[in-house]
Amino acid sequence: MRQLAVVTGGAGFIGSHLTDALVGRGWDVAIVDDLSTGSRKNVSPGATLHVVDIRKPAAAALIRKLKPHAVFHLGAQVSVTESLKRPATDAETNLLATTNLLEASADAKVKRFVFASSAAVFGTLDMPLPMDESAPIAPESPYGITKYAGERFGAFYRSSRKLPFVALRFANVYGPRQSRVGEAGVVATFAKRMLAKQPVRVNGDGTQTRDFVYVGDVVEAMLAALDRPKAVGPFHVGTGVETSIADLFRRIAKETGYRKRAQKGPKDTNAVIRSALDARKAAGELAWKPAVGLDEGLRETIAWFREHP
Ligand SMILES: NC(=O)c1ccc[n+]([C@@H]2O[C@H](COP(=O)([O-])OP(=O)(O)OC[C@H]3O[C@@H](n4cnc5c(N)ncnc54)[C@H](O)[C@@H]3O)[C@@H](O)[C@H]2O)c1
Repeated sequence: MRQLAVVTGGAGFIGSHLTDALVGRGWDVAIVDDLSTGSRKNVSPGATLHVVDIRKPAAAALIRKLKPHAVFHLGAQVSVTESLKRPATDAETNLLATTNLLEASADAKVKRFVFASSAAVFGTLDMPLPMDESAPIAPESPYGITKYAGERFGAFYRSSRKLPFVALRFANVYGPRQSRVGEAGVVATFAKRMLAKQPVRVNGDGTQTRDFVYVGDVVEAMLAALDRPKAVGPFHVGTGVETSIADLFRRIAKETGYRKRAQKGPKDTNAVIRSALDARKAAGELAWKPAVGLDEGLRETIAWFREHP
């Protein structure tokens, strides 16, 4: 019998890759997306798109009606900067809507609920990197706060309603189809601008670091969580490797044949300085490890941007 998954945010970057993988595995997929940052172009022809805002009762009603086997909740307000400007809107989308979807999923007796959380639950900590799941939670933005609150609401539904909830904290995800909207899109921004031979700005001195994880690996982590419904989490989904923005600039410049120097932009005071996630817990309990190295992932990504200028 074919099984049904609901993917919120399935018209977005990560959600569309997940949808492709689920369709490839023979699943029926119902996407719930309001197309605010996502696009119809990303939607797999094998999936059904419901253009619904997850903040509206219609989204929870759909889950109660469809009774899917699994819910992957990726639909979100994804910008840290936007969350700092409009905290209440962030809370409506990332927290209240999440709570309503958890309630509906518990009612529908969903067998696996996978929540896209983020490294943003950590602030700038004076501790060695990469950080594992025992590092102190200290979000510095409404986005980080609501992602962590989503994790805790999920844990509440797991214990009170037996909903098999798991949170995966993604590092900086990159890959084909990433839009340049939002600060997570530095790879997309550099790749597009370098291919078009446009000036590229590096904020601050370029020594700030991020943990870049390929979208195909992130999809594999979500599928591993689907296959192990007893795994509780939260789980880090990253490579554990810190890459500086200056190093990223050099790698993408090499792959695209870009010869201009970086332009110096102002330091981003809202962003953490260094970040990397230790994913050994996911290796042990989900049998998941990242498989795509940075240069290989960048090659795939740049090839896609070449074909989709
Ligand atoms: N990209 C990253 O590096 C990264 C890192 C950590 C966590 N995440 C999380 O992963 C998830 C997917 O992110 P992404 O990078 O694919 O971003 P994205 O913007 O491409 O995808 C988000 C999707 O959610 C949809 N959406 C937004 N608000 C909605 C609403 N009110 N109702 C219905 N749909 C709505 C958008 O249209 C979009 O398709 C998000 O939850 C994000 O917070 C992403």
